[in-house]
Amino acid sequence: MRSLIDISDLSVAEIDELMRCAHDMISHPEKYEGVAKNKILSTLFYEPSTRTRLSFEAAMYHLGGHVLSVPSAAHSSATKGETIADTLAVISNYADIVAMRHPQDGAALVAATASRVPVINAGDGGHFHPTQTLADLLTIEREFGRLSDLRIVAVGDLLYGRTVHSLLHALMRYPGNTFIMVSPEELRLPGDFVARLRAAGSEVVETTSLTQALPQADVIYMTRVQQERFEDREQYERLNGAYELNAQAMTHASSTSIVMHPLPRVGEIATEVDHDPRARYFEQTYNGKMMRMALIYSLLRDAHDHPQPLPRHEIADSMLTDEYRCSNTRCVTNHDRDVVLRITGQSLCAYCDYPVVSLR
Ligand code: NCD
Repeated sequence: MRSLIDISDLSVAEIDELMRCAHDMISHPEKYEGVAKNKILSTLFYEPSTRTRLSFEAAMYHLGGHVLSVPSAAHSSATKGETIADTLAVISNYADIVAMRHPQDGAALVAATASRVPVINAGDGGHFHPTQTLADLLTIEREFGRLSDLRIVAVGDLLYGRTVHSLLHALMRYPGNTFIMVSPEELRLPGDFVARLRAAGSEVVETTSLTQALPQADVIYMTRVQQERFEDREQYERLNGAYELNAQAMTHASSTSIVMHPLPRVGEIATEVDHDPRARYFEQTYNGKMMRMALIYSLLRDAHDHPQPLPRHEIADSMLTDEYRCSNTRCVTNHDRDVVLRITGQSLCAYCDYPVVSLR
């Protein structure tokens, strides 16, 4: 039995297989109508969502399954102080598969280790969002016929933007990709992340200028500034609106480039760009539903064939400790009383990948 917490949980061959399956679902939907019959997906969403939750639910209905939904933390026992582990131990008795979104970085890993059924990370704080990445990869692959040798210009909040983090984790495993990172200084991709990309052989360029980056792009990946991750409201106000992709800016981009955005947009892409033939952000939402169908189908099949939970490598390879704490204030280890910090061989938090600090 497997969960999907980080896009790196899937090998490149498995990602390719999921894309093939999604293509087949697009061409032959009738083949998949009853494949999840009598199965239940629980959507446990402790943060706002339109696309992700509804596309998971639509995906399950298309496969002939049922949905049990907790649409917000306010509607759950989290408000009474229930821990993530207890919640998942209970939901495992009701559902065959769970899609969870949670505001704390690392929450999905906690859920996966407590659950007896597969858990899909539908966004854990500013950390990862692997199913958005599956949607993004299908969008890119349908356009270019490949996921390698591409120039990706990612724009906006690269510090807290979990969709960019997951997308980079995926694309760094395909050869020849160049990542051009456009953000205000304060919202740059975390330094460790840049180092990981370079160590994997990817070329990374960091800049604050959208106009300079645009002519180089195959993919223009816009993101919003993640208001909910800021402790300082004034800082958010200052950084929001740093970039706007409008018709004038699009004159700098190549005619073969495409514009993507995980949505919601809050001003980063002017609505006039919707009529530009390079806009792909609404197609992305369709591709997201198709990839979620392929993923649910594959994880349910896997859970049937391998009913025992597999030990997760982050947990198996890490050391339990109460002598350190995670430096990330938004990390689940600093919020959930059941979770004790685990550190990796590189002295990073096993839940959110931030550095740890000694308590001594
Ligand atoms: C993204 C998210 O939730 O991280 N939205 C989505 O899932 N499509 C992007 C965002 O909220 O900015």
